[in-house]
Amino acid sequence: MSSSTNTALITGASFGIGLELARIFAREGYNLVLVARSADKLRQLASELEKAHGTRSLILAVDLTEPGAPAYVLDQTTRADIQVDVLVNNAGFGQYGLFAENDLEECLRQIQLNVTTLTHLTRLYLPAMIERAKVGTTTERKSGGILNVASTAAFQPGPLMAVYFATKAYVLHFSEALANELNGSGVTVTALEFHKRANATRVNLLKFGAMDARTVAEDGYRAFVAGKPVVISGVKNWLLAQSVRFSPRRLVTAIARKTQEQ
Ligand SMILES: NC(=O)c1ccc[n+]([C@@H]2O[C@H](COP(=O)([O-])OP(=O)(O)OC[C@H]3O[C@@H](n4cnc5c(N)ncnc54)[C@H](OP(=O)(O)O)[C@@H]3O)[C@@H](O)[C@H]2O)c1
Repeated sequence: MSSSTNTALITGASFGIGLELARIFAREGYNLVLVARSADKLRQLASELEKAHGTRSLILAVDLTEPGAPAYVLDQTTRADIQVDVLVNNAGFGQYGLFAENDLEECLRQIQLNVTTLTHLTRLYLPAMIERAKVGTTTERKSGGILNVASTAAFQPGPLMAVYFATKAYVLHFSEALANELNGSGVTVTALEFHKRANATRVNLLKFGAMDARTVAEDGYRAFVAGKPVVISGVKNWLLAQSVRFSPRRLVTAIARKTQEQ
């Protein structure tokens, strides 16, 4: 699938925000590597984008909670001679309930997907992006980049979704630190923050602030192109993020618990 067009690899491209990001990157002229477990959904999307924009897609139906998955993904893109210019770490899920009572295996899969796989894929693809930025071989964009989908859950502790909130805090801090390390390298890292229940999956209409997945994805794409380290999608979400900065930690945690109970 090698070509002079830039390629974006998007995890969790079969539903929700990842699917909308795939549509946006295709519209902007990228070829795609689409990663998720639902092969049929990915094939459907690839066919839609080929008809609409002539997009060429490599489909990788893989469970990203498997520890070997990131290496498999790299191997498949290497075999297909694909240069990944943009990595979108979007796949993630949230487990709801009291930590002590939650299923341990699911809890660990959540950390694996939201934290370990995201970190692993970043480490696998980033060095080549940095090298290409030095010699300017990436077309259209002057360099490559990484878009990490986090959540406004990143800004405070989240009782009843304790692990999920903590994984998103990791994504935010990791992304900001990387963005700093890469300053001046030509490679950018952007963390996308927004708010909605993480376990309310596969719905298009995001209730909070009446935002839909497309709006969130467009905000994320614009911020990524602008090279911003962090973007908070939606005014209400921005206000939420600011308010926790100036409130007592215990109060913030108590309010988060009330919100989660609803
Ligand atoms: N929805 C929200 O309200 C919200 C709010 C803040 C942040 N976020 C974050 O935004 C991102 C996307 O959320 P979304 O609402 O769009 O979720 P979604 O509709 O549930 O989609 C999740 C995507 O991740 C993929 N995925 C899940 N588990 C996977 C696995 N084990 N291996 C490979 N792919 C997997 C799913 O595909 P398959 O099922 O086909 O594998 C799907 O494409 C997540 O990181 C989430 O934490 C969501």
